[in-house]
Amino acid sequence: MSVATLRKDASPAPVVSLRGVSVRFVTERGAVTALHDIDLDVEDGGFLTLLGPSGCGKSTLLRVVSDLLPPSAGAVRVLGVPPAVARGRRDIGFVFQDSTLLPWRSALQNVELPLAVGGGGARPGRRTPRELLALVGLGGWENALPHELSGGMRQRVAIARALVNDPKLLLMDEPFGALDEITRDRLNEELLRIWEETGATILFVTHSIYEAAFLGQKVLLLAARPGRVREIVDVPLPNPRHIALRETPAFVDLVAHLRRVLEAC
Ligand SMILES: Nc1ncnc2c1ncn2[C@@H]1O[C@H](COP(=O)(O)OP(=O)(O)O)[C@@H](O)[C@H]1O
Ligand SMILES: [Mg+2]
Repeated sequence: MSVATLRKDASPAPVVSLRGVSVRFVTERGAVTALHDIDLDVEDGGFLTLLGPSGCGKSTLLRVVSDLLPPSAGAVRVLGVPPAVARGRRDIGFVFQDSTLLPWRSALQNVELPLAVGGGGARPGRRTPRELLALVGLGGWENALPHELSGGMRQRVAIARALVNDPKLLLMDEPFGALDEITRDRLNEELLRIWEETGATILFVTHSIYEAAFLGQKVLLLAARPGRVREIVDVPLPNPRHIALRETPAFVDLVAHLRRVLEAC
């Protein structure tokens, strides 16, 4: 069991807190322990990447944090309250691997959608959908339909949509996994800029060692069967980060360490 504490200088109350969290699925072929006894704290403004082999429970962990799945055991708090309450306050944004945009709605209308669904209770000082499209680099594309956009642009729209309620917590499940490497590198850099500009706390799932190392202030390494915390690594890289950082010895050493731990999982 390990406890990750991000940004020690920030407010002491963690944005995400898990204690003894386990998730078991009972299927026709028997029971699967997707997560076993997870303890985790993610501090305000932290950027935690979750790295591990397929099936180690990464998506399950995000689903538990976002109230899509109740844990079989243990306690989950988001901003000090149960995930359902945080979700009801629209404090949680979610981005999936597939952008899940509505094909008949423009980029701007897709970003506006959560406002319409939620009854439009605006928060003061919140960025408008148009401003969010500019934030993700899509100024001028407001009226484009999803099929007119590249895969990377559709994911940018999905990020803008996830930010429309100005959530304090952004959960991202392999959001760039289906993109080509060059697009992915660019979106990695831009995501760090968006993280800085919004001040959101981010949990980001990936199975790319490079992506986990480049984005995270901490990397949570998970082992499979049962899904459990293998190690929490402090990322000793400076901020702000640019892609060229990946050629530095510190980055290469970090990747080698993460790879060794994963191989031992
Ligand atoms: N709804 C479900 N029913 C049964 N088993 C599930 C369900 N969701 C996930 N699992 C199992 O739980 C384990 C972890 O899955 P998942 O969280 O999707 O892993 P990851 O995202 O790391 O690839 C896997 O063994 C998977 O088959
Ligand atoms: Mg997954």
